Amino acid sequence: MPQQPVRIAPSILSADFAALGQEIEAVTEAGADWIHVDVMDNHFVPNLTIGPMVVKALRKHSPRPFDVHLMVTPVDPLVPAFAEAGADTISFHPEAGAHPHRTIQLIKSLGKRAGLVLNPATPLAVVEPVLGDLDLVLVMSVNPGFGGQAFIDSQLAKIAALRRMIDALGRQIDLEVDGGVNPEKAKRCIEAGADALVAGTAVFGGGPGRYAANIKALRG
Ligand code: DX5
Ligand code: ZN
Repeated sequence: MPQQPVRIAPSILSADFAALGQEIEAVTEAGADWIHVDVMDNHFVPNLTIGPMVVKALRKHSPRPFDVHLMVTPVDPLVPAFAEAGADTISFHPEAGAHPHRTIQLIKSLGKRAGLVLNPATPLAVVEPVLGDLDLVLVMSVNPGFGGQAFIDSQLAKIAALRRMIDALGRQIDLEVDGGVNPEKAKRCIEAGADALVAGTAVFGGGPGRYAANIKALRG
């Protein structure tokens, strides 16, 4: 299916954690398409962030889809809790469980959209056998764990190759990029075939008065 107009997903990792509900309302008002939630377990990645209770509390602060990025292992036991909390898309890393195909089916059995996340060093071959089962592929353009890292340019070729694979399949699968996305890198991601962009620093930088302009700048 052809590339869609780009969707911007602010990562609340860069928001003010003391005011998350208001921050989500502010980016919604500023034009965010999705709300990206980074879930880290201090085990799969070296950081500890948000659990399902917080997602549940935040859910009522925006009508936009919640795009939940799980960086946890084992992943399967946590999937139902995030589905219950109000996630719309649940994405996970293939390294986070022994049976990625089973995890995709678990997410879909709960009525949620399933996404697979490719780390910078994870080859495309991992996604190929399950591409037709997915609603979204997320290409990491930094190593997961922290906001504010520099975009890894070598991932642009992976995005372009994925765009060709998705187009060849002819199914609607979102192609999202996460990490170090600023207006300049956003343009290159969209040119390579991405149609959804996560951005933390580039959206939340400058405070609420800047959110609308920051989001607009990422659309190119
Ligand atoms: C990294 C997270 C990203 C990150 C994006 O592990 O998955 O969502 O917070 O933040 P920026 O845009 O600042 O790189
Ligand atoms: Zn993320």
